[in-house]
Amino acid sequence: SFNLHGRSLLTLADFTSPEIAHLLGLAADLKAAKASGTEVARLTGKEIALIFEKDSTRTRAGFEVAAFDQGAHVTYLGPTGTHMGRKESVRDTARVLGRLYDGIEFRGHDHHAVETLAEHAGVPVYNGLTQRFHPTQALADLLTMREVAGPDLKGVSVCFLGDVGNNVAVSLAIGAVRMGMDMRLCGPASLWPSTQIVTALEADARAAGGSILLTEDSSAGANGARFIYTDVWVSMGEDKSLWPDRIDRLRPYRVDREMLQRTGRDDVRFLHCLPAFHDAQTEIGAQLCRDHHLDGIEVSDEVFESENSIVFDQAENRMHAIKAVLVATLGG
Ligand code: CP
Ligand code: NVA
Repeated sequence: SFNLHGRSLLTLADFTSPEIAHLLGLAADLKAAKASGTEVARLTGKEIALIFEKDSTRTRAGFEVAAFDQGAHVTYLGPTGTHMGRKESVRDTARVLGRLYDGIEFRGHDHHAVETLAEHAGVPVYNGLTQRFHPTQALADLLTMREVAGPDLKGVSVCFLGDVGNNVAVSLAIGAVRMGMDMRLCGPASLWPSTQIVTALEADARAAGGSILLTEDSSAGANGARFIYTDVWVSMGEDKSLWPDRIDRLRPYRVDREMLQRTGRDDVRFLHCLPAFHDAQTEIGAQLCRDHHLDGIEVSDEVFESENSIVFDQAENRMHAIKAVLVATLGG
């Protein structure tokens, strides 16, 4: 059995294949226990700080509900209202919060900030999304795929289409190759992850018996894929002025009916970390759809709302995956 007590989660690259598999098994067990009313609190009396320099629905709610289910308390520290990064350094903030809390979650732009927190807090630090990585998302993605394809994900294919160098794509790829999956990153070469990341993914894939394909060809990427995944084309913290250019470059990778048909499978499942621009129900989404004459940006509304879509299972699984991380690293 595994002892992950006291460990931080900054990127899934910090965890071995068996450790990731262990977290996924624990998440599945905790989900089943909650459903059957047999969950046992293992975080009673623990205090967890939740630092959010960016907005969040799922990650914040996931950490809060996971903590409360397990008997822990949380403090939400939002984009304004603390001194961190302005009047007080991240390093000093880490040393203060580390005296008061048993664990600290951080969402922000700069990945270096979450590393600095982990270095100086003296307690486990969890990355709730930085510009580079989103590891708790990737754990939820793997949990969701496991529920569809079975607990052994070896050889199961997943194709991420679009902004393939972003935090969600890279974290998914790290987790997927470590689980021995057939991972495809499909988008324009100008948005591919760095050579350093690709080299690491290739090495991980070799070690775990998985594979990694980078391609600009959506037919090659989607062919035979059990799972099709996409994310927003301009991420938080990126300049809004990037939209027209991103839409031009990523339009061939938009997930619509035809894209699902390229998989050649009726049982293909669609994943998205959310939030998604799939309709005109939000002000930004409505304007993008209008300006670019599209019914949904990165995904059509038809696919998003289809039987193939499992995006809300995935959203729920954020909480179960986060709970597994908290229990494994802080639990008694
Ligand atoms: N997927 C995700 O991280 O969602 P939030 O931004 O709502 O936390
Ligand atoms: N890539 C997106 C994910 C949001 C959950 C972003 O960073 O904004």
